[in-house]
Amino acid sequence: MIVCIFRPSGVCLEGLLLFLPINVQDMSRDTIAILGLGKVGRAVGFLLRSAGYTITAVASRSASSLTQGIVYTGGEAFTNLSEAASRAQCIFITTSDDAIASVCEKIANEGAIKPGKKVIHMSGAGGLNLLETARRSGASTASIHPLQSFADVEGAIKNIPGSTFGITSEDEIREWSIKIVRDLAGVPFFISDEDKPLYHAAACIASNYLTTLIHMVEVIYQSLGLRHEDAMHAFWPLVKGTMKNIEERGTVQALTGPIARGDMGPIKKHIEALRNKLPLFLQAYSILGILTTDIGVEKKTLSPQDAECIKQLLEGGLHYEHTSKHE
Ligand SMILES: NC(=O)c1ccc[n+]([C@@H]2O[C@H](COP(=O)([O-])OP(=O)(O)OC[C@H]3O[C@@H](n4cnc5c(N)ncnc54)[C@H](OP(=O)(O)O)[C@@H]3O)[C@@H](O)[C@H]2O)c1
Repeated sequence: MIVCIFRPSGVCLEGLLLFLPINVQDMSRDTIAILGLGKVGRAVGFLLRSAGYTITAVASRSASSLTQGIVYTGGEAFTNLSEAASRAQCIFITTSDDAIASVCEKIANEGAIKPGKKVIHMSGAGGLNLLETARRSGASTASIHPLQSFADVEGAIKNIPGSTFGITSEDEIREWSIKIVRDLAGVPFFISDEDKPLYHAAACIASNYLTTLIHMVEVIYQSLGLRHEDAMHAFWPLVKGTMKNIEERGTVQALTGPIARGDMGPIKKHIEALRNKLPLFLQAYSILGILTTDIGVEKKTLSPQDAECIKQLLEGGLHYEHTSKHE
């Protein structure tokens, strides 16, 4: 029997949708609630709204995030998470990672998750276990993680389109997950639950540790007396040139410098200078140098014998014990 719900206009919608084949049904019509209105929650809400989704409700802890959330998403604001969650077919939990499981448990225990709903988180390291309570309430769950770094909301809105999204999903919403990523103008790929921590470790190396490396360069140049802007001005073309080489030629062919050439003199001088002036960086310099020898050997510009000598040299820096001046 077709259950036909007539709108004031007399157009039958829901009854018709029930009988459409799954690939024809416009799944973008899912109503959305967003819980946690930080950078990602606001940006994803904004982009989903732009893609034609209706954000029916939003919730967050602070009044300022709620106010901003309304502006970006157009959703009705709630301080009560379950009230917001009960107003949508699909619930995005975009809180900090540590709050995802407890928020999910709370809304599940308060009856906001009904069978057939979808509950999504966007954490890179967290698995589907964070949404276990939603699954037990009959919801389908997925993790949809943008492989991108968002320092602010505007940046997130700009950078989400074109980003890759790591999806971990229950089978029944696999296709839906692909669609929502495409609606965000992202590129979907699937990652298993057990591989997520390693996948996210790599994301942290690519983004956070790259930032740390650049910060080290800043600190070293500032220690030479350069002002922050001058330091940036000096080394930034080098960073950009290297990125371009990596993009165009790959990491192995992009490697240059004393390790790639098997030049031990400069490496000895680097170790000595760091030991004397910035010993805090010596271990990081040494461990990265050791990893770099493998790339040099792969590039075939560094012989395995020279690689061994350089590794031994660098191992001295690795075991150097730095005593902080604060100790
Ligand atoms: N930032 C990135 O580069 C990035 C990239 C990919 C994925 N992600 C993922 O996206 C998610 C959100 O990250 P984000 O960068 O948007 O973090 P964020 O800017 O710190 O925002 C997190 C928001 O969660 C809210 N929140 C925390 N605990 C809550 C609770 N118990 N109840 C209700 N709201 C709560 C906070 O609300 P109030 O402001 O109201 O206190 C805050 O606005 C995380 O899972 C993260 O791993 C982030």
